[in-house]
Formats: sequence, C-alpha cells, structure tokens
Amino acid sequence: MRSSTLAVSVAALPGALAWGGFGHITVAYIASNFVSSDTTSYLQTLLRNDTGDYLAGVATWADSARYSKWWRWTGGFHYIDAKDSPPSYCGIDYERDCKKDQGCVVSAMHNYTTRLLDTELSLYERAVAAKFVIHFVGDIHQPLHTEDVERGGNGIHVTFDGANFNLHHVWDTSIAEKLVGGIHRKPYPYAKKWADELTKEIKVGKYSSGSANWLKNTNISDPVSTALAWAIEGNALVCTTVLPEGAEAIRNQELGSDYYEKAAPVVEAQIAKAGYRLAAWLDLIVASLKTRSSSPASTPGDL
Ligand code: ADE
Ligand code: ZN
Ligand code: ZN
Repeated sequence: MRSSTLAVSVAALPGALAWGGFGHITVAYIASNFVSSDTTSYLQTLLRNDTGDYLAGVATWADSARYSKWWRWTGGFHYIDAKDSPPSYCGIDYERDCKKDQGCVVSAMHNYTTRLLDTELSLYERAVAAKFVIHFVGDIHQPLHTEDVERGGNGIHVTFDGANFNLHHVWDTSIAEKLVGGIHRKPYPYAKKWADELTKEIKVGKYSSGSANWLKNTNISDPVSTALAWAIEGNALVCTTVLPEGAEAIRNQELGSDYYEKAAPVVEAQIAKAGYRLAAWLDLIVASLKTRSSSPASTPGDL
C-alpha cells in the first residue's frame, strides 16, 4: 500500500510513474486537445500548472489518493456495481446500484462537478474536485467499473500473453498497453502520442462521423443523467465484449490473442470517447462559471 507521501511525490513527478494509469493519462491528453482556451487557462490556474500536462499530471491522483488513509473513504467513488447478469442481461438501475452509504462513480461525478462549480469553496477544494472529475470520467468509461460481477472482474483470474492477471487489470491496463506496443516505463510520452493519434481520428478519421453523437446526453444541469448515460453505455459492453459467453468461459484462460482482437477496438473507442467527453464536460463547467460571474473572468481567482 502506498503512503500518502509517495502519492504526493508521484503527482508532482509524472515522469516517474511507471504503473497503471496509462488510460487515464491518455484520456486527459485527449481532453487537453479539445478544450477551449478559457478552459485551459482556468484549469491551468486552478491546478497550478501552466504546461500542456496540466490535466494529464493529475489524471491518476484519485487512484493514488484512495490508497492513503486520508482519502480511503473515496474508494467506492471509482465504480458503480451494476447488479445485472451478463451476458444475458446488462443494465444499470441508479437506485439499485449506487450504494446509499458509500456512493458510486455516478454520484461522485455529480458531487465533484457541483463542488467545482461552487465558488464559495476554497481554491484547494475546487482543485481537488477538478482532479476527481478528470479521473472519474475515465473510470466511468472502463466497462468493468460499471459491473458488480466478481467485483468488476477483480476475482476472475486470467492470463494475458502468458502473464497472470485478473480480468479487471486486463481491461484497466494490459489491453491498452499492448495496443500501443508497450509503454516502456514511460506512460506520459506514450500516452501523449496515442492521445494525439486518437485526436486526429476524432477530428478527421474513423471517429469523426460518430463523435457528435458522443455528446448527445451531455447536460451540465443534470450530471447524474449525463454520467449515468455514459455508465450504461460502458456497462452494455460487458455483455457484448467483456463477458460475451459469461465469466466461466474466460476464467483461467489466455486472453492475449482472440479475445484481445475483439477487445482492443472497444478499449480504444472508450478512451477516445472519455477524452472527448471530458473536454466537453470541463468546457461546460468553465462556461457556466463565466456566465454566472459578473467580471470577464478567466482565472479561478477572478471567479
Ligand atoms: N470494487 C468493487 N467493484 C468494483 C468495480 N466494479 N471496479 C473496481 N473496483 C471494484
Ligand atoms: Zn479510479
Ligand atoms: Zn480499474
């Protein structure tokens, strides 16, 4: 378990991070490519980072934080445990699946979006809220973060190119890393490169015709419906792609070839969607702050 001191130093030294997080960092770089210049300057000021890494540098903070004693209570915010039964039935019922005592990724999106919009809160609290929003838009797009079966696949042992993992890790990390040919202990530069490629696919390539639809349920006045729509979409992929023949069909099986071939395009599209949607969500937040403010504000200090 990581100490909070290490969590802080990891956040301060993005280049040193050599585990997990690759998907989140890519999502953040994609979002940086799409946000408005108002959003860029607002968040660069709030997050005290005026480089191009202002989103990527905080994208994995929430995962480090949940393993520190201060932030352990936020652990349940990273997923929603849909009590469906893949592959025959997928679906999320917010009342049924978002735990009343600990919350879930959908309620967390609501809470931290509201806090980011709340100018009565301190800049520190709003920066924390921004870091959670940036992270949770990524988590919501990982299909197994919207699934209860075996704790989101954590209890399903598999192999991937001969190495032992659980299914959750394969979807968090292994598929994306294989897709880009390995990250060679340097997630930030590899994520940046992949993000730029996906940005091009969204603008003029294979995602250009579909990407307008990616924003159709996006409503800043209703964060729960927006986040729930994103979660339901990811959860549907559990039935079609993650567990198409159920958990027993893949338990202890090798997933690095045939399974990977079907899963990789889905992982790629989910990463692209998450980045594009994160940009739109952050733009809506900053635009709403500007509209409400009387001054021509572009920095958190002015708002
Ligand atoms: N713990 C319990 N359910 C989980 C899920 N769906 N994803 C990640 N962690 C979990
Ligand atoms: Zn997470
Ligand atoms: Zn995960």
